[in-house]
Amino acid sequence: MTVSPALIERLRREFALDWHGIHGAPHWARVRLFGLRLCELTGANPRVVEAFAFLHDSQRRDDNFDHLHGPLAAQYVRALPRSVLGLDAAEVELLAAACDGHSYGLSEGDITVLTCWDADRLDLGRVAIRPDPARLCTAPARDPAFIQWAYERSMQNGILET
Ligand SMILES: [Fe+2]
Repeated sequence: MTVSPALIERLRREFALDWHGIHGAPHWARVRLFGLRLCELTGANPRVVEAFAFLHDSQRRDDNFDHLHGPLAAQYVRALPRSVLGLDAAEVELLAAACDGHSYGLSEGDITVLTCWDADRLDLGRVAIRPDPARLCTAPARDPAFIQWAYERSMQNGILET
């Protein structure tokens, strides 16, 4: 695992929202799972995708449309000591780009960035939204069987379940 327990502990200390909420740790864990599975199919860099899972929503200040949280996450990533993140300079830039643009509905870019965005969008079942293939960036993520696999997992841990 690329992301160290020390970094996760730091994120937990700093996270402004509910750790178990819709943009908290359960979501990060599923984005990691979906992203690493996608990496095997897209050839994306799994170290960057895993780091994205834990960091992309880490700077949110609210659970609604927080339009600055992507750019703030990119800033945060660039400011982290390299030893904490465990990525090289090129990987940090990919991670920052993925964080920066992840909430703007974009669908063009480096395959690692696109894989990050798909991993996030595949977890919409937690808020009762089935991912729309037209809004996914990579062919493996648009596969109906992959969407179904992810959707079932995102629903299992969705906080809307009672
Ligand atoms: Fe997310």
